[in-house]
Amino acid sequence: MSKTVLVSGGAGFIGSHVTVELTQAGYDVVIADNFSNCDETNYKGVCAILGKELPLVRMDFCDKAAVDALFAKYPIDAVIHFAAFKAVGESVDEPLKYYHNNLLSFINILEVAKEKGCNVLFSSSATVYGQTDVLPVTEQSPRQPATSPYGNTKTMCEDILRDSVKAYPGLRGIALRYFNPIGAHPSALIGELPRGVPNNLVPFITQTAIGKRACLSVFGNDYPTPDGTCLRDFIDIVDLAKAHVCAVTRMVEGRMKEEYEIFNVGTGRPVSVLELINSFERVNGVKLNWKFAPRRPGDVVAIWADPTLAEKELGWKAERSVDDTLKSAWAWELHLAGK
Ligand code: UD1
Repeated sequence: MSKTVLVSGGAGFIGSHVTVELTQAGYDVVIADNFSNCDETNYKGVCAILGKELPLVRMDFCDKAAVDALFAKYPIDAVIHFAAFKAVGESVDEPLKYYHNNLLSFINILEVAKEKGCNVLFSSSATVYGQTDVLPVTEQSPRQPATSPYGNTKTMCEDILRDSVKAYPGLRGIALRYFNPIGAHPSALIGELPRGVPNNLVPFITQTAIGKRACLSVFGNDYPTPDGTCLRDFIDIVDLAKAHVCAVTRMVEGRMKEEYEIFNVGTGRPVSVLELINSFERVNGVKLNWKFAPRRPGDVVAIWADPTLAEKELGWKAERSVDDTLKSAWAWELHLAGK
């Protein structure tokens, strides 16, 4: 019998790609979303890719009664929790909004999951590593104090999950630490849909290329890196989504080695901001208007993953090239523009 996976925040950027991969791997997926940070574009795209309507529940995970009702209605074997606020700058201005939403929604899920003996996958971030001189980072690398309330909610939720699986028998958890997810589905029917001015690099690049933004600012050109711009580990969104299928399967098949496990989800290859811009222009044949601007407060100089553990334990490895990922990001922007 197929297993049922609840995807909280399943209408968002990462959640929609994960939903597609899980369904194609044979899982029944229930999407739950409050649409606070997205519209129905990705949900409709998911249904178009899969050729069927998936169950969609409009709800807020801060509402415990709604979470109880959801688990009563569906036979949920595993939960993947994406429903969280994610704007770093906004979290500095409105920390309580972030602590309230990101912590309470996760606690509500765990309260029910512990009663049902459910598997929980938490979407964490490489932000928990902060800046370290020892690169690449492994899962054993020490976490650093968070530089924003957003980052702190990732660290805190990891700890909440770790302590909960220790205390409540039957509860198992995996935290996946994402590096920089970019790109879109090869169908160009789902992708990243930032509201307002994008904070992240690739949406800003594609919106500049299409003419929605006048000029891309490259934050900092005097970092101690080969070309002076920051280094990141840009991971393709479909590759990242596949890591979730591997992790969920490991959980539901009872193959975890510990009750709580952590995996880096990255490529292991550092790419600079300038290299990414150059690749985008080259593979898509478009010219980008960009200029150097001062460093952005809170940015780390360089971070990239050691993905060895995920390959060994999950049997997962990033496959798509950065060039193909950047082509998919541009195809998505063109799709949005109706071109
Ligand atoms: C940020 C968050 C990370 C989160 C991720 C989600 C921090 C410190 N970072 O990562 O936790 O998981 O977003 O995708 O919390 N850049 C420009 N111009 C721009 C935008 C970005 O030059 O207009 C540069 C940045 O300075 C940085 C790189 O591009 O060097 C990547 O930035 P971004 O896409 O925002 O991701 P991160 O800050 O690495």
